Amino acid sequence: MNQLTRRKFLAGASMGAAAAAAGPWVLKARAQGGPIKIGVVLPYTGVYAVLGESITQAMELAFARENWTVAGRKIEMIKEDDEMKPPVGIRKTEKLIDSDKVDILTGPVHSGILMGMRDKVHNSKTILIVSNAGADAISRERCSKWIFRTSFSNWQPNQPMGGWVAKNVSKEAFLVAPNYQAGKDMMEAFKETYLPAGGKVVAEDYPKLGETDYAPYLTKIRQSGVKAVYCFFSGTDAVNFVKQFDQFGLKQGVKLCGAGFLTEPDVLPAQGKSALGVITGHFYTPLLENPTNQKFVKDFREKNVGKMPDGFACQGYDTAEVIIRALKAVNGNTQDKDKLVAAIAKVEFDSPRGRFRFDPKTHNVIQPFIYVREVREVYGGLNNVPIDKIADVRDPGTGCTLPA
Ligand code: PHB
Repeated sequence: MNQLTRRKFLAGASMGAAAAAAGPWVLKARAQGGPIKIGVVLPYTGVYAVLGESITQAMELAFARENWTVAGRKIEMIKEDDEMKPPVGIRKTEKLIDSDKVDILTGPVHSGILMGMRDKVHNSKTILIVSNAGADAISRERCSKWIFRTSFSNWQPNQPMGGWVAKNVSKEAFLVAPNYQAGKDMMEAFKETYLPAGGKVVAEDYPKLGETDYAPYLTKIRQSGVKAVYCFFSGTDAVNFVKQFDQFGLKQGVKLCGAGFLTEPDVLPAQGKSALGVITGHFYTPLLENPTNQKFVKDFREKNVGKMPDGFACQGYDTAEVIIRALKAVNGNTQDKDKLVAAIAKVEFDSPRGRFRFDPKTHNVIQPFIYVREVREVYGGLNNVPIDKIADVRDPGTGCTLPA
């Protein structure tokens, strides 16, 4: 052994001895000093790209407030575009879990992608905080101890609207939504209270997600003679549907109602005056007067060249807030996953939407309120003005036993 290699060998040996003397807990703590990796699966292209953008911008706002460091550990976001395609979303999820070894996963927007990710997440015991996709089954028969949801179940913004529309708009409605799980979940939830309140569904139609020409559907709506339409559309679908509904001349005689995503601030500027008078149900509007929301709206607009935050931004902000608070509660220890899950379940704070807390039965957020909102021209622009509200809306979540 020459001098150099001998010196290296001795140095290595003494380091090893020091580590052994320090004990495995010190080594574990050192390993814990690395960045906390947060895997993000969201659409950055396609019909829902604007949703992915809002969620990301608001998460970044919250982490920036903490200087991207929580409990002494750096926060690193690894962003993946799911392209709105379930096989891509599943592949990106596998990459984040198996190769990047993320500590926490968040996303997606699309209910079908969430359903496709579910088993990989559950079987690998990866903590997933769902920041949009509302698939009801995730709060029910497909729930998991490892999955939380800060956004909504598809049931939540729609179920209270059925009774409201029957009472205040019309006892006859035409339902229309994109042909996939979220569209089906939302229309079912609406019917749950619309039918018992004496409402009659004249017809239901399910165009494909990403449809650009709604003329055949609008023709059927006109021919049906209904006075109300209840729908779910989001992203570019919401822009196209609301504009074409107006261009078709239906706005004069038919009240357009739906799930709040239809007229969120991500799409309102593109819809313009075609959105005036549309009535929707949602847990958020940037007009909420609580101090947390007022600060959130101001900070978000400052950071994003005047862009108005939407419900998706609120979801992103709350997702980051849940992560920050839970990590602080466990002192940055992401190894003990049971402890981290318990800490997440306990998180409670003032969100821009009101008091945030998870339902222990389902791990789904309890909505402090579902607001019935009407698009009006106020405060110098188009806004979702609350005209009524329903308190404490929690997914029924029966059949969810949160198995380990
Ligand atoms: C969903 O697929 O769950 C979904 C997508 C867009 C929304 C709401 C729900 O605005």
